[in-house]
Amino acid sequence: MKAARFYDRGDIRVEDIPEPTVAPGTVGINVAWCGICGTDLHEFMDGPIFIPPCGHPHPISGESAPVTMGHEFSGVVYAVGEGVHDIKVGQHVVVEPYIIADDVPTGENDAYHLSKDMNFIGLGGCGGGLSEKIAVKRRWVHPISDKIPLDQAALIEPLSVGHHAVRRSGAKAGDVALVGGAGPIGLLTAAVLKAKGITVIMSELSAKRKQKAKEAGVADYIFDPSEVDVVAEVKKVTNGQGVDVAFECTSVNKVLETLIEAAKPTGVIVIVSIWSHPATVNVHSIVMKELDMRGTIGYCNDHKETIKLVEEGKINLEPFITQRIKLDELVSKGFETLIHNNESAVKIIVNPNL
Ligand SMILES: NC(=O)c1ccc[n+]([C@@H]2O[C@H](COP(=O)([O-])OP(=O)(O)OC[C@H]3O[C@@H](n4cnc5c(N)ncnc54)[C@H](O)[C@@H]3O)[C@@H](O)[C@H]2O)c1
Ligand SMILES: [Zn+2]
Repeated sequence: MKAARFYDRGDIRVEDIPEPTVAPGTVGINVAWCGICGTDLHEFMDGPIFIPPCGHPHPISGESAPVTMGHEFSGVVYAVGEGVHDIKVGQHVVVEPYIIADDVPTGENDAYHLSKDMNFIGLGGCGGGLSEKIAVKRRWVHPISDKIPLDQAALIEPLSVGHHAVRRSGAKAGDVALVGGAGPIGLLTAAVLKAKGITVIMSELSAKRKQKAKEAGVADYIFDPSEVDVVAEVKKVTNGQGVDVAFECTSVNKVLETLIEAAKPTGVIVIVSIWSHPATVNVHSIVMKELDMRGTIGYCNDHKETIKLVEEGKINLEPFITQRIKLDELVSKGFETLIHNNESAVKIIVNPNL
């Protein structure tokens, strides 16, 4: 079967590899669509980061480069392994793409996403969504109903990142949120906030992304820091109070500073973006307003509720799909667009069976 495999920085090859074995306890999935993520791009340009370099096997998967890429995918079950009785051939599914040690508890109250050596399917080994087929442990396979088209379902994974970030914030209906950055992660975080009855203010520089936030209906107010004083505008909207919660989705220091100034006393700031450099913040504001600043990584028991929000029609993922491509076009059309024309794209999705 065809698969896109990461060999090294700048070296991703679409090649023929053997089909996966559907071992006991796993589910064989025919991949329908797989999104390209900013993390995949980081691996291509600056990696390997999450991907275990050639000769350095990941402690859980036992694999190192070359590995199959793709962690944002949907598909249709084509086989079930021995012992799997609660999912049938033909079922539409998405995958919570974790690689987690077998002895880590993964129940409802377990923070399994923070366990030692955690990695992601499609980065740390175990196959990936940028291939025709994959076999995944039953625990990480989530059934979806026919109400969610399979192309939109590929966005459940990044939407779950937004869902987890919103849960981390403790935001509730009636609150006001400020989201810094309207890239894929900021937009999908905003979509979850809107679905939960929270007023959303977005801060974004790019004209195309501001337009997308407007079109998708995920923001009540959109402010451009190159045109207005975002903190002053937020204060106007909130009767001088400031926002209840704020989400940092840019890894830009100025944005983090803006969120701290725009938060109300006792507000919560969630840092969603991945920072490769230390940040400088006004600690005095944090102290004087008793702010909480929190991180968020991936998702943990978020998929079920995220899927429900989409099935109930509270979130429409269609506006966030900006391009559909074939596996052979992954680098030439997918990565190249994200490198040279990032703001025109939100999610580029790949069909490995085309
Ligand atoms: N925590 C997690 O689990 C998790 C998961 C996935 C991705 N991420 C991270 O989330 C971050 C965002 O991802 P993305 O794909 O949306 O990135 P992106 O680069 O596409 O989006 C960032 C957006 O911020 C905007 N921006 C830049 N400077 C700004 C400024 N001064 N004011 C307002 N807006 C500004 C950009 O125009 C862009 O639209 C990345 O760091 C990514 O690695 C985190
Ligand atoms: Zn991703």
